[in-house]
Amino acid sequence: MTANPFLDTDRVRGTLYAEAGRLTQRTTALARAKTAGRHPAAVIAELAADGPRGTVLDIGCGRGTTTVALAERLDPPKLIAFDQSAALLTDAQRRLAGRMGVRYMRGDFHAIALPDASVAVAAAAFCLYHSPEPTAVIAEIARCLAPGGLSITVTKSADSYAELDDVIAASGLDPEAPDRPSLYETFHSHNQADIVGTHLDVREIIHDEQRFRFTDADHIAAYAATNPRYQLACDERGIAERLRQTVGNGPLETASTVTYVVAARR
Ligand SMILES: C[S@@+](CC[C@H](N)C(=O)[O-])C[C@H]1O[C@@H](n2cnc3c(N)ncnc32)[C@H](O)[C@@H]1O
Repeated sequence: MTANPFLDTDRVRGTLYAEAGRLTQRTTALARAKTAGRHPAAVIAELAADGPRGTVLDIGCGRGTTTVALAERLDPPKLIAFDQSAALLTDAQRRLAGRMGVRYMRGDFHAIALPDASVAVAAAAFCLYHSPEPTAVIAEIARCLAPGGLSITVTKSADSYAELDDVIAASGLDPEAPDRPSLYETFHSHNQADIVGTHLDVREIIHDEQRFRFTDADHIAAYAATNPRYQLACDERGIAERLRQTVGNGPLETASTVTYVVAARR
């Protein structure tokens, strides 16, 4: 096992995304806590609207949140939802049921089985930090893009949710939580544009500060139990109980910067 669970292939293909429940719980807990910041799927769809019309590719589509926004905003002739998790692709398919022109493609983003220059707009949201070498994925995106094609990549700041790490450590649940490398270490807000720039022309960089307020210990536990950064010996109920006994019942405020890089094929 590597020190960073987001780079551990077995965990990424297994416990993290082999079924949709864990990702759904994490994103639901975060969405419930959010007090400021734009909705990433809406921002991506808005940025994508400036690209040429043609095939749209959503890389690492997960449960299809961005795919749905792209479908609604662009109504492209062909929309490809791409992910390596069969379970998440099935969930995306359910959410896009009835939409014409959507194709679901299972694969590894290091080797996208699409022809050269076949894609007008490619989006990759909150997934390239699962690559030990995101430059290789950017090369794949550049290969797939048609002349004039647009790439939109999105990630988070390396210090995202640091206040949560501190609370988890202070409670004694995982004293080393703040000392571990960031989950986003290979592709984060401050190296993303340089990595994208290795194979594409960077046109725009947008940093959006997102703020969160976890209302109480149960809310913190619902998120922490699904975050692989933490090494926790108890279940969600036990986490909440321990937090209440040690650091109190919340609330807890934290932040993350979401960064969008828009780039074009050279
Ligand atoms: C945090 S989810 C993001 C989902 C979606 N883009 C969103 O914004 O909601 C990360 C996704 O990346 C996918 N993923 C991770 N490594 C991958 C790889 N090597 N190839 C393709 N997909 C991958 C996972 O299966 C998961 O669906």
